[in-house]
Amino acid sequence: MKNQTHIFWHQTTVTKPDREKQSSQKGAVIWLTGLSGSGKSTLANCVEAALFAAGYQTYLLDGDNIRNGLNRDLSFSEEDRRENIRRISEVAKLFADSNSIVLTAFISPYRADRSAARKKFESDEFIEVYVKCSLAVCESRDPKGLYKKARSGIIPSFTGIDSPYEPPESPELIVDTEQQDLETCTNQVIQYLKDKNIIR
Ligand code: PPS
Repeated sequence: MKNQTHIFWHQTTVTKPDREKQSSQKGAVIWLTGLSGSGKSTLANCVEAALFAAGYQTYLLDGDNIRNGLNRDLSFSEEDRRENIRRISEVAKLFADSNSIVLTAFISPYRADRSAARKKFESDEFIEVYVKCSLAVCESRDPKGLYKKARSGIIPSFTGIDSPYEPPESPELIVDTEQQDLETCTNQVIQYLKDKNIIR
């Protein structure tokens, strides 16, 4: 970690509240967390498409995509997952500050890392969504064949198999992709945004 002693914060003239006043939305992050195969990316895509179609400014940060670029130097060790989530939360903060509604779709398996991400935002700006689905169902879906590889030892430290997943204790929202279809889950998120005046 580099020393920040000689770094000074510059207050910009145009602020987040200024941007909000000119808009029918409030910048926020919808932080999806859940096991591999739980449906984070699918749900994030569907929510973003619905918001975009309704004219809102959105951006989606997705695990696999970000690990191809910004975070391509990171592994799946506990330390690197922490750094992954730290960088993502900083990027999400920039998007939220620009008044975008940003969706993040990362396993983000550790409570402490999600909690550290939450602390960077105002309380109403960070919406933790637990994309709930049992390991058994995620494993039976196995959309990328990764569980099969993890079980046979080809992928080490796979979440849910030999690396932990800590479910949220008090998320803003729980969407159950095992019990509910995609449309119901999407509507649940959109309704939450309306109820909390994130979209008007
Ligand atoms: S984390 O835990 O938040 O840092 O993970 P994330 O950045 O979301 O990346 C998860 C995707 O990486 C693939 N993958 C693995 N996942 C979990 N454990 C291991 N060891 C692993 N290796 C590769 C996998 O495609 C994950 O995508 P999703 O969409 O979650 O299935």
